[in-house]
Amino acid sequence: MASDAAMTAAPAEATGAIAWPRIRVQGAVKSFAGRVVVDVDDLVLGERPIEGLIGPNGAGKTTLMRMVMHSTSLDRGTISLLPSEGGSVVLSRLPAHRMARHGVVKSNQVITDFDKLTIWDSLLLAVTEAAYEQPQRILSERATFRRHEAEMRHWLDYFGFADPTAFAMSAGDKKVLDIVRCLLLKPTFLLLDEPTAGLPEDLTEKVMTVVRDLAAAGTAVVIVEHDLNLIWNLCDEVLFMAEGRVVLRGDPRSIRENRTVVEKYLGEGHV
Ligand SMILES: Nc1ncnc2c1ncn2[C@@H]1O[C@H](COP(=O)(O)OP(=O)(O)OP(=O)(O)O)[C@@H](O)[C@H]1O
Ligand SMILES: [Mg+2]
Repeated sequence: MASDAAMTAAPAEATGAIAWPRIRVQGAVKSFAGRVVVDVDDLVLGERPIEGLIGPNGAGKTTLMRMVMHSTSLDRGTISLLPSEGGSVVLSRLPAHRMARHGVVKSNQVITDFDKLTIWDSLLLAVTEAAYEQPQRILSERATFRRHEAEMRHWLDYFGFADPTAFAMSAGDKKVLDIVRCLLLKPTFLLLDEPTAGLPEDLTEKVMTVVRDLAAAGTAVVIVEHDLNLIWNLCDEVLFMAEGRVVLRGDPRSIRENRTVVEKYLGEGHV
């Protein structure tokens, strides 16, 4: 297998005033029960505003994202945030609950919460927990609630939740609420793990619009998805992962037509 797509060290988008943050993964290895599932030599995420991370089941996509979030520990290696304003923050030394403070936020492939709290309360809890991590951003607890209330209403309206005092029932509702949770945390670097899996087309479109708007405003977004129409339509760049390594990266068209990608993932007739 070829080595990881190398860091190209491109300066943060020299085009125009917006600069996106990047995340650098160096020598990052993770094994489960003696089997290496992620082995990334040197990889920069966020070279382009919207990146897609694709690859077969078990390739290590979720594990890599969890390693970035520090919710899966590294066996070895370093993961750093390169903020758009310069400098470097070693994420792999931060506790997981400090990640939001640096604007690094992730949605989940499998949603496990929202069962015990109403829609409103679960979102409020998420922003309250984050607010305690961001004391410089709040003047008072009440002001935080007031500000988040407006945002929460906005996003719940946007995604068509008529009754925030209800419990989220369907897997799709939980998925969308997890995305709303991410949005409320004001990400500068957003990792989305299968954000639209199981969602109807209208909600998928809405998620895509939000991602485009976020990226246009300076948030770097990395999306793991098996919905390849979304990947080809939304992403500026696509990274192909197989057997724990990012083996290719390029514009959507070049990845879609790549022999290795077709053989290992897409299958013939997909191009
Ligand atoms: N906590 C764990 N314990 C043991 N093995 C694990 C654990 N988490 C992941 N794995 C294994 O690591 C490998 C990579 O899993 P991962 O979930 O990262 O793949 P993925 O690329 O996200 O796949 P999918 O597209 O199916 O979501 C798989 O073989 C998986 O079974
Ligand atoms: Mg996964």
